[in-house]
Amino acid sequence: MADTVPISDRASSKKFPEGFYWGAATASYQVEGGIENCDWADAARKGIVPVCGRACDHYNRFEEDFDLAQSLGHNCHRLSVEWARIEPEEGRFDEDALEHYRTVVKALHARGMEPFVTLWHFTLPQWFADKGGFEHADAPELFARYAARVVDALDGLCSHYATINEPIVFASNGWIRGTWAPFKRGAFYSYLRVRAHLARAHNRAYDEIKKVRPNVDVGIVMHVIYFHANANPLNKLIAAMLNFHWTHSFMQKVQARCDSIGLNYYIHKKFGDTAVYEKTDMGWDSYPEGLLGALMMLKRYDKSIYIAEAGIADASDSMRAQYIKALVRAVHEALHLGVSIHGFMYWSLLDNYEWALGFEKRFGLIEVNYETQKRTIRRSAYVYKAIIEHNALLE
Ligand code: BGC
Repeated sequence: MADTVPISDRASSKKFPEGFYWGAATASYQVEGGIENCDWADAARKGIVPVCGRACDHYNRFEEDFDLAQSLGHNCHRLSVEWARIEPEEGRFDEDALEHYRTVVKALHARGMEPFVTLWHFTLPQWFADKGGFEHADAPELFARYAARVVDALDGLCSHYATINEPIVFASNGWIRGTWAPFKRGAFYSYLRVRAHLARAHNRAYDEIKKVRPNVDVGIVMHVIYFHANANPLNKLIAAMLNFHWTHSFMQKVQARCDSIGLNYYIHKKFGDTAVYEKTDMGWDSYPEGLLGALMMLKRYDKSIYIAEAGIADASDSMRAQYIKALVRAVHEALHLGVSIHGFMYWSLLDNYEWALGFEKRFGLIEVNYETQKRTIRRSAYVYKAIIEHNALLE
């Protein structure tokens, strides 16, 4: 079995495939600023979550930010478009907003960066949230109409789409933990209903998109928690059950309508583990090696995979460079184990609004001073740049 061959024998070349995509990711609400007609802005006005306000003012500064990404060697970029801007009222699509995103995507092309567009990254237009959001029976249809409208509007400018970012994180934070909009805690029945509606929303969106643009690549972005275990069979069983609940049970519902899968990796949980891990600023184990396990979990779906997010909150920038190198080693090893990986997008290009935690956590390759909006490239970003320039492992 390939898995038992030592990596040194298997992976003599440190190179990545030619044309491999290297870049970083952002999400509209977390960076753009000025979005007031969505559920998170409403929650901020009610004092439930920190105010996002102007954020990184990326809505106005995207060209400057893309210049920096280009200077760091990036040849792709993942962004999301804001549903509340594009469809501010039910059924009314805002041509200016669509034109804005056309301009943004063109700005990427002008800098030699391939756009990867996520159609929805957590925030809901207020009108949709008021209807009950993804609890509402019509949610899949409404989402599919919006998704197809955006893809239609970006015709010829983008060929890589993800419908939904992290459906299970959205559902569990919103209806189980109650930490994210709509802040319902322990609402297990609604959680299951939302999960089912999200799977349907993806599938309906896939069909509607393919009707208007059959040739674009449409996938979903999954946050894979890598549950693993020591040799204890009970621990192995627990890990397998959690992997099923968190990743596979949802993937099984959408895999037939995924041309590709975007993978977000941040977290692992090893049962029966006695190791002590260094912690990131999020308090999470620093365990970039787990990306390999997460990739191997998705291998069974036999799809093109790209890492849509992986990164570290590290305000002092003392861990980030090593963390990135280890992530990249994991991708390289997975490639040699036969996983079809086409790109890697670090989270995040910029420091940004980390949801209920506000602006304190620093994930960016580029530091943002929120008072002045000054950008400063972190040292670790140059380590990533060297990897990109060599298209290879550095060591
Ligand atoms: C989300 C991002 C978030 C990041 C870091 C992912 O779950 O897609 O929006 O900022 O993790 O927590």
